[in-house]
Amino acid sequence: MNQKLETIKQNVITCTKCDLCKTRTNAVPGKGNIQSDVIFVGEAPGRNEDKSGEPFVGVAGKKLSIALEEAKISRDSVYITNIVKCRPPNNRVPSTSERETCQKYLKEEISIIKPKIICILGNTAFNSILGGSEITKFRGKIVRKDNQLYFLTIHPAATIYNQKLIDVLKSDIVKLFDLIRELKNDKEIKIDIEYAS
Ligand code: URA
Ligand code: SF4
Repeated sequence: MNQKLETIKQNVITCTKCDLCKTRTNAVPGKGNIQSDVIFVGEAPGRNEDKSGEPFVGVAGKKLSIALEEAKISRDSVYITNIVKCRPPNNRVPSTSERETCQKYLKEEISIIKPKIICILGNTAFNSILGGSEITKFRGKIVRKDNQLYFLTIHPAATIYNQKLIDVLKSDIVKLFDLIRELKNDKEIKIDIEYAS
């Protein structure tokens, strides 16, 4: 692993900046390819992630893998992380203060990887990164803010009990990688929403 990412990983693993450190088994740093064109950002580790110390390894992670397979993308080629790196008790939504405290790690991951686009998975990431809500209304859209592109989609966990949503997630992820191909070819892409900084 790259030295700078390794440093973030070590800092996350030993972090005690918020109270989630008291209840976690393992902190869960981001994982993946430093050269990835995209960073996927979820909400927070769940039970399996807390046990293993790796992001998206449980049922939601399986759904994400299925969507990536649909786009013929290997998990190893992308970078996957979360808004907060420690599991909230009973999988509650992380609080504003927990998210704000943990945000510095995500900012560091973004500044090292410099992704062409950040894929926001679900409402907590949407709200934390862009102040948004109602992801189901905005999913599939491309946002630009401060010269960074974002792609909005649903959280993979939302597809667990709703078979229709797995098709939504799959088609969004296919769209995302079509878009990335266009970006790599310096094609002009259509921005759906411009955010003021
Ligand atoms: N849900 C998330 O948001 N992140 C994970 O890592 C696992 C489940
Ligand atoms: Fe540190 Fe983030 Fe874990 Fe809180 S959630 S202890 S800020 S790594």
